[in-house]
This record gives sequence, structure tokens and C-alpha cells, in this order.
Amino acid sequence: MLRTHHCGQLQLTDQGKEVILSGWVQTLRNKGYLIWIDLRDRYGITQIVCVQDITHPYIFEKAKNLTREDVISVKGTVTPRKSPNPHLATGQIEIAPTALEVLNKAKLPPFTIEDHTDGGSELRMQYRYLDLRRKPLQQNLIFRHQVNTHIRSYLNQKQFIEIETPALIKSTPEGARDFLVPADTQAKKQLYYALPQSPQTLKQLLMIAGMDRYYQLVKCFRNEDLRADRQPEFTQLDCELSFVTQEDIITLFEGLIQHLFQTTKHIALPQFTRMPYRQAIELYGTDKPDLRWGMPFVDFTHLAKGKGFTTFDQAEKIIGITLPQGAQLSRKQIDHLTEFVKKPHIAASGLAYIKYLADGNIRSPLEKWYQQQELQQWVQKSKAQKNSLILMLAGEKATTYQALSLLRIHTGKTHLPHLSKNFMPLWVTDFPLLTWDSEAGRYEAMHHPFTAPKATDLPLLATHPSQVQAQSYDIVINGTEIGGGSVRIHQKYLQLQILKLLGFSTQQAHQQFGFLLEALSYGTPPHAGIAFGLDRLCMILGEGTSIRDYIAFPKNNAGRDVMLDAPSALI
Ligand code: AMO
Repeated sequence: MLRTHHCGQLQLTDQGKEVILSGWVQTLRNKGYLIWIDLRDRYGITQIVCVQDITHPYIFEKAKNLTREDVISVKGTVTPRKSPNPHLATGQIEIAPTALEVLNKAKLPPFTIEDHTDGGSELRMQYRYLDLRRKPLQQNLIFRHQVNTHIRSYLNQKQFIEIETPALIKSTPEGARDFLVPADTQAKKQLYYALPQSPQTLKQLLMIAGMDRYYQLVKCFRNEDLRADRQPEFTQLDCELSFVTQEDIITLFEGLIQHLFQTTKHIALPQFTRMPYRQAIELYGTDKPDLRWGMPFVDFTHLAKGKGFTTFDQAEKIIGITLPQGAQLSRKQIDHLTEFVKKPHIAASGLAYIKYLADGNIRSPLEKWYQQQELQQWVQKSKAQKNSLILMLAGEKATTYQALSLLRIHTGKTHLPHLSKNFMPLWVTDFPLLTWDSEAGRYEAMHHPFTAPKATDLPLLATHPSQVQAQSYDIVINGTEIGGGSVRIHQKYLQLQILKLLGFSTQQAHQQFGFLLEALSYGTPPHAGIAFGLDRLCMILGEGTSIRDYIAFPKNNAGRDVMLDAPSALI
């Protein structure tokens, strides 16, 4: 037998028991006459103690020669510790060994296997199996498993069934490039499968097949520009339902997110905020606003222009944010924010500010160009409370909105840490159906080509396509888009009309989506769905900093698996 218990299990109540434990040598402290071994497995750490002249000399000698990460099996007696360790679950006891077997010697690991390791991230990625021995990462994978379990139990209770869809398919457009798999390279015309960017069309076919409520925890593959919260291969919780409206979806999946916060964090989230897309852009400069700090944009353009301050006079927009009462920043802190907005990826020309003091007076470099009375009007417009600060940027509209959006997030994270701890979920709705791609000279689907327009906007499709709103919705938590979906088109004529607006000829539409168009003509129920980024959801719930920490074997920033050395040339 290799073990009777695991390393996180034994307590004082087990005193006197003969046990066998197996695991890795976490640490070894050798005092000459005393050797302590911390034995580790997934469940915890148990101390083994070898005492000269008491422990069998053969065992004592073996213990002396152990090194970190050796795999051993120890038989022994559970004994109370003289000095218990309150920080360890098994800290009341230790094992007095009666046998010790080295199951496998270990090479010296390239970094320490401790909660706080000395290894750089590339090295840890290369030896991911060693990094995964560390408790924080093991906890993340266990946490992800629990999230999966809670998701399944919530959806199973609501009559969903889990159905697997194929990974070798025909291209489905989700806005990224496909990963292609050569199938028959010998054929005259080489044949390829595409890996799914999502099972979008397949889940719609399942609704046509009458499955009614589907979900799947499914791998999706997107060959796209990588950012901090993106992986080329990631997991979706993918869902689709028949005979439902947008409102049904929002209610059901808001319930799922509340269930997950409750079960994994014991947090009861109130009803989620909802915000139309246009309002999100106007107030926060982004379609995924982080609502933790308030600070919506205020437009000062009309008040600020035409008073002789050239920078403002030449600007298309002058917009600002107001920090909450009490969040006054020092000159040095404002200088740091000025440096931040001048960074190349933001490229603002400068940062203006107004300090609205506790006594009602105003301090601002803008006093050179504007009267106190004028600045008081700005303060009124911003609804600032006494003892607060207004930060302002000016310039061309789109870039200034983007810059202020980044400044807002940076300011919140840096200067409002108490608010940063909150969770602020948000539904963003009423997206435009289409966006105009001026380079390609055609419309693009903002979500994907199968998204239904709002029924009331249908007449606009022929006359003003860019004004048509979609029946689509995103769910955002603390500025991260964790999911999105839409009501689908379930009529063939409408699907063809949209594909035409997207630049497909009838022939091209049938070539690429013939299977779907054909299926739509066999009695398609109204249906709608949503997909969550599971990796992102785990990161938010687990309060982690990167989705990589919740993926067993992630790719690096360049999309490479440095452990497997992939992608690589075929041998
Ligand atoms: P969408 O493209 O919005 O919708 O994807 C759904 C969610 O998947 C996550 N996500 C990613 N996570 C990590 N790495 C990536 N590269 C990545 N790309 C997307 C995001 C996103 O919100 N078929 C539709 C859903 C539907 O309409 O039902 C879809 O895939 O959290």
C-alpha cells in the first residue's frame, strides 16, 4: 500500500495510529541529531521527524540523503507535536517513521516550489508541471473545477443538457482568423478543417433539432492579436435556448452569475446595472465600463471653448472626470497622472485639473485663462462635491474619449483602492447591429452575422443599416467582458438579407452557410443564447490577475507553448 491517508488529513484524534503517507519532500531541516521533513501532496503538508538513536539508523541515514522534491513513502506513528504549528492544518501532530522508501529521486528544480517562488514567468511556463505543484496554482485549478461544478448544477436544474459539438468543422466567423487543420493535402485542391472560434452555428442547429436548452464547456480557438485577457485557445461556457426573449436570457444568466458569487465567495450580488451601448461610450468611453469608481465623463466643451486658451480652443472635445469627495491628489500624484496620459499608447498632450477645495474655492492652472466664476460653472456641471478633484483632457473626440477612459481606470486602480475591491456587474445592451469597415468598404457584424436586429428597426435595414440596433447583450464585470450573446435570426430570408449587407453574394452565402440557410427553412424555433469566457470568469471570481493562472497549460504572450515547444516545424 502506498498510502492510508493524505498529507492534509491527520489530527490529534489520530494519535497512535500507524499510517502510510506518500508525497514530495517540500523542505528538509537537518539539525544533525534531528531531521524534519515536510511531506507535501495536493491536500497539505505533514511533518515527519527523525531523531538520532530513536529512529531506526537505516531510516535516519536515508532521510539525511533526501533532497527537495524527492518522492517518498513514509510509514509511521502519529504523535502529538511538542510545539504545534497553528498555521498548518496538520500542525498538532507529526509522524515518527518506522519505514521510509524513496519512490523516486528528483533533480534540483529550476526554481523553488513555494507559495512565493523565485522563478521568472518564462521559466515557470517551461516547467509548468513544477509550477503547478505550487499551492496557489493548485488552488486556482481546484477553484476552476468548483466553478465548473456549480455551473453544471445550476444549469442542470434548469433543464439544460450538456451536448458536445465537434472540433473539426467548417469556419465560423467570430471576427478572428481560423486555426486550420489540413485534412487531405494530397487532393488536387487541399482540404482543411477549421477549429471552432465558437460552436455558434452548431448550437443553433441543436435548437433546430429541438434540443431546447443546451450548454457546453467547450474549447474555442481564435488566431487573433493576443492581449492580457486573451488566449488563442480558451474555454467558453456556451449556451443556447429556444422560445426565449432577450429578457429571459438576462434573467436566467444573471441568476447564474449570482449563484456563482454566492457559492464560491458568499457574496450576494444585487440586481445588475443595465446600460445601452451608446450611454456606455458617452459616459465611460468604452463598451465595457468598469463601474467600481463612478466617475462618469463630463463634457466641458461648451463651457471651455472660446476663452483664449489655445489648447482648449483647438480641441474638438474637452471632457473630464470627477474623483469622489475626499480623494484629493497631491501635486506629485497629479504630475504622475500627467506622465501617464503622455505615454505613447495614450498620447494626450497634457492633463488639466481643477481642485475644488473644502472651503468652496478653486485652485487650477486654468485660472490663467478663466475667471473663478467661470470655473465654478464647470464645477457645477461636473456635480463635484467640495474637497474633490476634476481631471480633464482635450483633443480630437475619439482619441480623447479613449485616453480619458484609460486615465479613469488608472486613477481608480491607483488612488481609490477601497472601491477597487467591489464587484460591479453590468449588462451592456442595444449594440449597433453593424459597423462600417471603411477599408473593406462594407458592413461588419458587431457581434456575429447570426444576430437578430431589433424588430422595430427592421425597416431601417434597407435605408439606414448603420442605425439598426441588435438584440444583443454583453455582460461586463469590473471592466472585463466575461460574456456576450444575442437573439438569433430564425428566418432564412432575414439571414440572407444580413449576409448580403455583410458583402456576401447569394452564391457566397450558400457556399459558406448553405447548411444553416437550408436548416433555417425546416421549422426553426425563435432562439437566443450567450457564451461566457470561463477563463475570465474564473479570474474575476478568484480575484486573480491573469487568465493564465486559471489554465493548466496556457500559451505565453506570443501564443507559444514554451513547455511543448509549439507551434513548431513538423519532424
Ligand atoms: P464572443 O466572441 O463574445 O461570443 O465570446 C464570448 C466570450 O468568450 C470570451 N473570449 C475569450 N476569452 C479568452 N481568450 C479569448 N481569445 C477570447 N475571446 C472571447 C469573452 C467573451 O465575452 N458565439 C458567441 C456567443 C453567442 O452569441 O452566444 C461568441 O463566441 O469572455
